Amino acid sequence: MCNSFDGLYADAINADNVRVTIGEMTLGCCHYYEFTEGRESVFAVDPSAIRFGPGVLQEVGHDARSLGLKRIALYTDRVVAQLDIVADAIKALRDAGIDAVVYGDVHVEPTDQSISTAVRFAQETEFDGFVSIGGGSVMDTCKAANLYSTYPADLLAYVNAPIGEARSVPGPLKPHIACPTTSGTGSECTGIAVFDLLEMKVKTGIAHRALRPTLSLIDPSVTRTLPANVVASSGFDVLSHALESYTAVPFTQRVQPERPDLRPMSQGANPYSDIGCLEALRRTGRYLLRAVADADDSEAREGMMLAATLAGMAFGNAGVHIPHGMSYSVAGLIRDFRPQGYPRAEPICPHGISVIVDAPAVFRYTAPACPERHLEAAACLGADVRDATADDAGEVLAEHLITMMRNTDIPNGISGVGYAEADIPALAKGAFAQQRLLKNAPVEVRDETLRSLYRSALTCW
Ligand SMILES: [Fe+2]
Repeated sequence: MCNSFDGLYADAINADNVRVTIGEMTLGCCHYYEFTEGRESVFAVDPSAIRFGPGVLQEVGHDARSLGLKRIALYTDRVVAQLDIVADAIKALRDAGIDAVVYGDVHVEPTDQSISTAVRFAQETEFDGFVSIGGGSVMDTCKAANLYSTYPADLLAYVNAPIGEARSVPGPLKPHIACPTTSGTGSECTGIAVFDLLEMKVKTGIAHRALRPTLSLIDPSVTRTLPANVVASSGFDVLSHALESYTAVPFTQRVQPERPDLRPMSQGANPYSDIGCLEALRRTGRYLLRAVADADDSEAREGMMLAATLAGMAFGNAGVHIPHGMSYSVAGLIRDFRPQGYPRAEPICPHGISVIVDAPAVFRYTAPACPERHLEAAACLGADVRDATADDAGEVLAEHLITMMRNTDIPNGISGVGYAEADIPALAKGAFAQQRLLKNAPVEVRDETLRSLYRSALTCW
């Protein structure tokens, strides 16, 4: 009998024509979850409470009242603050008898300074709950404001080691209703908040179950007004969440924790996350290019919103790995890249771009660890894998990613956002600090590995 999880879950994971046979190799990852003495045998599912559908944002007043809230802090950014959806949400809250006070100055790609300002706002007034309306930056800032106003501490106290102290969150946070306005980060489903630490020129973050929003109201109709390159960038973030979670180290390879509560939120690939990853990849393959090309293609834009949610649920329980680890220094060290569709006052590398420019190089490198998973992901994204062998897996997946990137005007590798060979040591140093992510990779990652990957990522084509 098969002493692994695959025998138990393979049929469920592959129920929707995902099982593909290539030569002698049946995709579906036989034996990816092997039980080994002293290693983990249990995976955890921390589900997100989600309501999804056009118009669901109008329910925010009802939901806030159901949570017993009377006075909430509503976090958003300057662009979203001008949209009707914020005015409508405030009206829905006030109609429900809830006092809503707006913080409309969230920084796109938050920094330690912008987070501290947002925290002060939450500390200066007594709020019993939070609502965030915006992209990942807004939701992440709101999570941090909730955390530090509830359990005050130095900013680095709860930040991931080795940059911060990685202190455990002492208890539950106040209710937080997250309302995403982009189809990308999946932040509404995760206990992760990411920001730039300006002094160290590196992105870092806080990861704890307590940060996961209490409820997410996901209204796909709000993405209709997004510019094409924002849809492209956030869509590749979705794609990489799913791809990284699906190819992460299997949870059965982690050392068994001494106590159940020490089991990490980013536990590695697991049967629950696999389901969301594969469906998110299929939807991204089907809809991303259409959603970028045509703002009126509501089927594609709604399809990407659901893909983002599914990928968020998956990576919120599995964790991402090398492309996200590398992306943090690509974004943190950016000098003069100013993409269209984003605030242009300062240089910025949108998160999804900073991730996907690294991805082809990374997946060529990780493919030998689990080639069948790489090929299966490529097939879900729409690649022709019929004649592919295990040895081809990295190249097939990388080439398909590159085709998608070229068709959506993504910059050509890290040189496309302004980096050169001389920048590689600094980029690798920043990425090496992301040990929480690198340890979730299916292969060992050293400083020299990162240098080599950045060198390969200078150009993708
Ligand atoms: Fe991401």
